[in-house]
Amino acid sequence: MRVLGIESSCDETAVAIVDSDRQILSNQVLSQFTEHEEYGGVVPEIAARSHLSHIDHLVNKAIAEARIDFRDLSGIAATAGPGLIGGVLVGMMTAKGLSIATGLPFIAINHMEGHALTARLTEPLDFPYLALLISGGHSQFVSITGISKYSILGTTIDDAVGEAFDKTAKLLNLGFPGGPALEETAKFGDPARFALPRPMLGRPNCDLSFSGLKTAVRNIAEKHRGQLDNEAISDLAASFQNAVADCLIDRCTKALGYFRSAHPTGNTFVIGGGVAANEYIRKRLKNCVHGLGFRFIAPPTNLCGDNGAMIAWAGIERLRLGFINKLNFPARPRWPLDAPHSDAHS
Ligand code: KG4
Ligand code: ZN
Repeated sequence: MRVLGIESSCDETAVAIVDSDRQILSNQVLSQFTEHEEYGGVVPEIAARSHLSHIDHLVNKAIAEARIDFRDLSGIAATAGPGLIGGVLVGMMTAKGLSIATGLPFIAINHMEGHALTARLTEPLDFPYLALLISGGHSQFVSITGISKYSILGTTIDDAVGEAFDKTAKLLNLGFPGGPALEETAKFGDPARFALPRPMLGRPNCDLSFSGLKTAVRNIAEKHRGQLDNEAISDLAASFQNAVADCLIDRCTKALGYFRSAHPTGNTFVIGGGVAANEYIRKRLKNCVHGLGFRFIAPPTNLCGDNGAMIAWAGIERLRLGFINKLNFPARPRWPLDAPHSDAHS
C-alpha cells in the first residue's frame, strides 16, 4: 500500500509519499516562515495563498522523488482540520481533485491524528499507548487504543505549549518562529536564575496551563524595562523552558498513572507535535518516562513539526481498515480528536 499525503493546515506546505512497510519515499516540506516573519506570526490569508502557489509543484516533486506514477498509489490523504481554514481547503481540494482524476480513494485526516500516529511510522508500536501532543495550537494527553479510538485524558485550559513558546520568544525579541529560537537562546542560560510559576503542579487531573507562566515572564521583562542584557535574556529563556519541562513532567506522571490503571498492558509513551522537537524537553520527558518504567518514543525531529509523511501514514492506517471518505467531507477549522471521525465512510 502506498499513500500520498498533503498537509496545509498552518504555515507548512507539505506533500509526502509513504508505504505500508513504513518507508518514506518522499517528504517535501516547504516552510513559509520568511513570508510571515515580518508580522511576527502566521497570517492566515498569506498562508492560504502561499499553499495555493506551491502545492501542485510539491505534489509533482514528491511523485518524481518517489520515482512512481499516480497509478502506483493506493490512496490520497489530506488534513481536513483542525487548522486555518483557507489552508486546509487548499490541501483538501487538491487531494479531492487528485482523487477524482485518478479514481483513487480520498482519506480525510485529523491533523492531530497525524501527530499521534507518527510514532507507529517510525517504530514498531502496538496499541494501546499514551501520547503527549504538544504543538502550536494544541497540548493534550491522548490515550490511543486503536485507529479512531482516541480518548483525551487532559488538555490545556488556556495556551498551547507551542503558543507559550512563541509568545514568550516574541516578548524577548528572539525572532520568528519562536520555539526553536527560544530553545537556542536557552542553551546558554541559567535555568535557575528566575523564579517562575509551575501552573497546575500537583493537580489531580491531567490538564495543562501555560498562560500564567507566559505572564510571569512578561512581568519580569517589564520590571527590567529595556535593561535585560543578553545574559539575562538567555537566563529568562532557560528558566521558562525549565518551568515548561517541570509542568509537563508533573502532568505526564499523572497521565501515566491514569493510563496504567486503565490499560495495564500498555507500556509506551510517545510525544508528537512541533514542541516535541525541543531537545531539552525530549531529554527531561525521557528521564521521567523511563523512571516510571515506560518505553519512550520521540519521532525524529523532522517528523515532529508539521509534515506530509504523518498525513500519508495516517492515510495508510485508515485505508488498511477501509476507512475512506466521500468527496463531500467538510474542512473543519475545529475538530477534537475524540469526536466521531465522520459519518461519510463509504
Ligand atoms: O506541530 P507544529 O509544527 O504545528 C502545529 O500543529 O501547531 O507545531 C508548531 C509549534 C510552534 O509553536 C513552534 O514554535 C513549536 O511548535 N516548536 C518548538 C520547537 N520547534 C517548534 N517549540 C519549542 N522548541 C522547539 N525546538
Ligand atoms: Zn501540527
